[in-house]
Amino acid sequence: MPVSAGESAYVVVRLRPGGEVSAFPARCPHRLVPLAAGTVSGGRLQCPAHGWRFDGDGRCVDVPSLGTTGTPPPRADLALPWAVEERHGWVWLAPERTTATLPPRPATPPAPAAAPVPPQPAGPVFHNLEPSLAHAWHPVALSRELRRGGWLQVRLLGRNWMLRRDGEEVSAEPPAYGVRERLGVIWLAPDEPADTDLEVPEAADRRFVPGWLPPLRSPGPAGPLADTFLDATHGPFVHATTIGAADVGEVAPGEITLERGGFTSVQEQWCDNPLDPEVATGGRSLRQRRRTTYIYRAPFQLRLRQEFLDSGATTTIVYLLQPEDLDSTRLYVCVLLSSGGGQPLPLPAAVTAQVVLQHQILAEDVRSQETLAVRGLPLDRRDEVHVPADGRGVALRQALCDFMAVGRRQLAA
Ligand code: FES
Ligand SMILES: [Fe+2]
Repeated sequence: MPVSAGESAYVVVRLRPGGEVSAFPARCPHRLVPLAAGTVSGGRLQCPAHGWRFDGDGRCVDVPSLGTTGTPPPRADLALPWAVEERHGWVWLAPERTTATLPPRPATPPAPAAAPVPPQPAGPVFHNLEPSLAHAWHPVALSRELRRGGWLQVRLLGRNWMLRRDGEEVSAEPPAYGVRERLGVIWLAPDEPADTDLEVPEAADRRFVPGWLPPLRSPGPAGPLADTFLDATHGPFVHATTIGAADVGEVAPGEITLERGGFTSVQEQWCDNPLDPEVATGGRSLRQRRRTTYIYRAPFQLRLRQEFLDSGATTTIVYLLQPEDLDSTRLYVCVLLSSGGGQPLPLPAAVTAQVVLQHQILAEDVRSQETLAVRGLPLDRRDEVHVPADGRGVALRQALCDFMAVGRRQLAA
């Protein structure tokens, strides 16, 4: 359970039935996920996000993405409070060294307190109201949400905008630097944009059939959502009931190529492909080689292309985030499916099934983000612990720092 003592927040937990109580800091050092949502297995506390495990001394004994032979970095260890003790049916915690003795049994139990909010990162974070965000194109609605002659109120960077569609034209009130339609989405740039458009070649490729998910809203900032989209290590833990069970824990670092306005990262791994019709007939094995390409453009435009190298079947996911308020982000996700060269187009039922699956996966990510309770994406490397599989996350933080610097220069001009 989560508790607070002085300025600090902790999680107290019994790692073995009937055993001693242990106390840990409230946030996992990796991505600052609250450990109160963790689970206990084999006498260890396991973080719910990427499965890092901690023993009773706070030592990180397992980082699944490093594989069974990998050694967790020393900074992954948890700094424990000076003492935790059970007395009179109570758990007592001393964050710092003290010479005070425990008081006698309390006469009356204190009123139960609300669960403490774990501390925020010490350094700067990239949040949804970051001023440089005014210098970018943002998705604000699906084109189909704004009918001809109709209007729509949208929220962006803490401000309301009224969109109107007159004939072919979409306009915004109050006036913005620009409003446009692209990729089936309405985009708004409050001020002169400094970002780079995300290219989606699949949108113009006749071998692909698109399907949009209904837009979703997350009660948190966009930065951690982008980070999760780029992360290949949370599947077995956050998506255990949908796609994660087949994922292997160990993840090799993906190659990253820096590009204008972002980066591309390519990763190959083995995974199950139950949708391949050749699997049922024995023509191909269930376990197949898959190449995943991530394309990121700052601040919040992402594309993921998954190609099964044997069959050529490809699934592309376009992931666009609208920073509405400090604690609100709207998500637009499109799935584009291809059965591979020389194959018939995917049937509508297959596209619908993929949209439903991606919606479930997205809902799991959003639920996981709800528990995070941070104001934005930490930009100071000392606030988190990175391992080799986090290369894209590190590149995301750097790209947002670069974006912020360019946007702020424009704001000052
Ligand atoms: S393992 Fe805890 S946040 Fe990643
Ligand atoms: Fe996810």
